[in-house]
Amino acid sequence: MLNYNYICKSTPSMLAEGTISLWLHLQLHRQKKKTESNEQYQASLKNIGVKPQSGTGANIVLVGPPGSGKGTQSNRLSEHYKICQLSTGDLLRQAAQDKSSDEGKRIRQTMEAGGLVDDHIVMSLIDKNLTKPECSNGFLFDGFPRTINQGEQLERLLESKQKRLDAVLEYAIPDELLKRRILGRLIHKQSGRTYHEEFNPPKESMKDDVTGETLERRSDDTTETLNARLNTYHKQTTPLIDFYRKRNLHKSIDASQKVNDVYQQSLEIVDDFRKQPSYKPLSVDEEQGSVRQMETSVERNDFDETLTIKTKPINNQIEVDTSSLSKNFLFVYNSVTAVLRDRGII
Ligand code: AP5
Ligand code: MG
Repeated sequence: MLNYNYICKSTPSMLAEGTISLWLHLQLHRQKKKTESNEQYQASLKNIGVKPQSGTGANIVLVGPPGSGKGTQSNRLSEHYKICQLSTGDLLRQAAQDKSSDEGKRIRQTMEAGGLVDDHIVMSLIDKNLTKPECSNGFLFDGFPRTINQGEQLERLLESKQKRLDAVLEYAIPDELLKRRILGRLIHKQSGRTYHEEFNPPKESMKDDVTGETLERRSDDTTETLNARLNTYHKQTTPLIDFYRKRNLHKSIDASQKVNDVYQQSLEIVDDFRKQPSYKPLSVDEEQGSVRQMETSVERNDFDETLTIKTKPINNQIEVDTSSLSKNFLFVYNSVTAVLRDRGII
């Protein structure tokens, strides 16, 4: 056990559980220094529930206004992490092609007006697609969730599948820059490949580089619909940024940079999140069998070398007795290791 003087001002059982988990982590850390290959080290980390630090597999959300580059980046990121890419825009465009159903017609009308399609339709598409084998290694959501309600429903869906998000990347860019991007966009419908007349032209005018098939424009890529889509984004989607910030999952990237720079920063941020042990403090209420989320803050007092962990329920969640948190192994583990890492001890 590494010699450290932190004291958790909490119940004794919390401290005990935190100590055990730290011991595991630190032992592994030492082993790596001595002899282990990187593969062995990553495998050992996996055994105690710590995510590998690079390579494949990740669960990512991309949030950003129309034209911010979600589609462009998600192609590359999903290839890099070998995960499935789920674009609700693409899935809805497919569903809207069903000209015979009322639902297809409603979806089409909503998209052309720049509004948001009903949450229940979107959620059922996500639910259905997430079970596909391509998503077994992880997933990237492009343009989903777009409302707090979708964010909450996603949280419940992932919990039921014992999965969690690793990172939420916000592609931030001023509205003024988006018009040129949207009005110059060309798409290859069959593959989802995206081009731009000016910024990313195809090798041959209006032809897909891979298949040579004709490129098209999206029917919602007009000035009028873009304005409506931007309006919808600012009103209904931006509150999600705070939602994920509170969950320590959000990072913003300047999406007005070049495609490659946005890509590199996205990789760095996702890898950074993945270096941290999976982190979402949970309190398990055994009587009701329900799971509630808590926010955690860790305060360090350098004078007497103590550490205080404070918890409070996330907005709109019922107050929980914090002593029940001692049942959660990850809670103390993550809180204490965060401080130790911060101080360069591990
Ligand atoms: P969706 O298809 O997701 O459209 P969007 O959010 O408006 O975003 P875009 O696809 O237009 O832009 P993008 O960020 O992907 O940019 P891209 O990479 O293509 O959704 C469509 C509709 O479906 C919504 O309006 C809504 O009605 C409905 N919907 C979807 N999801 C929903 C949900 N969850 N709930 C309810 N309704 C939902 O880039 C754009 C152009 O810029 C390209 O030409 C590209 O080459 C170029 N470009 C990209 N990056 C750069 C760069 N860094 N520099 C220069 N050019 C660049
Ligand atoms: Mg897109």
